[in-house]
Amino acid sequence: MKNILITGGAGFIGSHVVRLFVTKYPQYKIVNLDALTYAGNLENLKDIDHSSNYFFEKANLLDAPAIESVFDKHQITDVIHLAAESHVDRSIVSPLDFVYTNIIGTVNLLNVARTKWKDDYSKHLFYHISTDEVYGALGDTGLFTETTPYHPNSPYSASKASSDHFVRAYAETYHMKTVVSNCSNNYGPFHFPEKLIPLFINNIITKKPLPVYGDGLYTRDWLYVKDHALAIDLIFHKGKADETYNIGGFNEWRNIDLIKLLCKLMDEKLGRAKGESEQLITYVKDRPGHDRRYAIDATKINKELGWKPTVTFEQGLSETIDWFLQNTEWLDHITSGAYEKYYDSMYSNRV
Ligand code: NAD
Ligand code: TYD
Repeated sequence: MKNILITGGAGFIGSHVVRLFVTKYPQYKIVNLDALTYAGNLENLKDIDHSSNYFFEKANLLDAPAIESVFDKHQITDVIHLAAESHVDRSIVSPLDFVYTNIIGTVNLLNVARTKWKDDYSKHLFYHISTDEVYGALGDTGLFTETTPYHPNSPYSASKASSDHFVRAYAETYHMKTVVSNCSNNYGPFHFPEKLIPLFINNIITKKPLPVYGDGLYTRDWLYVKDHALAIDLIFHKGKADETYNIGGFNEWRNIDLIKLLCKLMDEKLGRAKGESEQLITYVKDRPGHDRRYAIDATKINKELGWKPTVTFEQGLSETIDWFLQNTEWLDHITSGAYEKYYDSMYSNRV
């Protein structure tokens, strides 16, 4: 019997992890702790929120007593920690928000787990979800492995790197059982339209300019979010204590090539003329400190745990576009109000 606390379960990746665990493991109690910031949306979990093994607790990671009472109320046995401020552009504007949630929030959570589990750390797992961005930027060649030195370049990646270090330090110092995974860029249903793929899907639907940063030759490795959730399930159950696993899609794309593929697929699905959406492409001022290339070597998780992505990029992207086209209500709710303000503040001075 496990009572698993999943933090950030109302966000993009967290909602997929919550859904997977609630449906696959009816014997586990799944407790979703989320502050419901701009990125948290309970609509992401509408289909499973009546399940008898699912519980939601609205709480902020900065509120240590609130975390403690959630641990007590649900007798939490394990943690999968996804809650974070997650967008690089926002971290450039407001770095302290990232320090508070990603660093102090993680340490608060570690402290509560350390106190509550002190009788026998070996019976409890603290699983921390991190990003490949902690490794910094690659040149034209090479891949990030689990032993690549940390070299974060943005306030976001610096805050995630710091939280990873705290998790390792708690394993070393207090002998807590921990595991960390560092994943490449995710995409899929419920992705908040501040990140490249959902933002461009939304702009293509509404025929708004597609703001390509810099020369558009930046490279990312893209992974379908459901494959990330499956990797998290595997690592949670089979991963070795105190290890790191890199998760990636073996799927590198230069931004401009990905954007052209997206335009092509969307023209087909929307019944628009060939080449119509590409005309929306607009090169804009670059992101400061923009990492040139990320690429993950996912050999360890493949060899040791047998994980590999289950869908190709073309399949995953096509399913993602279909999802956004079928869930216009979800998109409308998100893109009204505060989102419009965000969009103006982020993009009006880039052109
Ligand atoms: P997201 O921004 O979509 O969701 C974050 C969630 O955390 C939201 O539901 C939000 O309400 C919640 N949250 C934020 N601050 C909180 C606080 N102080 N207290 C409690 N809850 C709070 O993020 P995501 O894209 O789903 O990313 C989830 C995790 O995966 C993050 O840790 C991120 O660093 C990591 N990650 C993301 C990607 C990616 O491509 N999105 C890739 C690798 C790793
Ligand atoms: P993003 O989705 O923000 O993820 P990350 O920066 O964490 O990798 O951005 C992915 C890539 O797309 C990155 O190179 C920045 C670029 N980008 C644009 O060109 N325009 C945009 O409007 C956004 C949001 C991103």
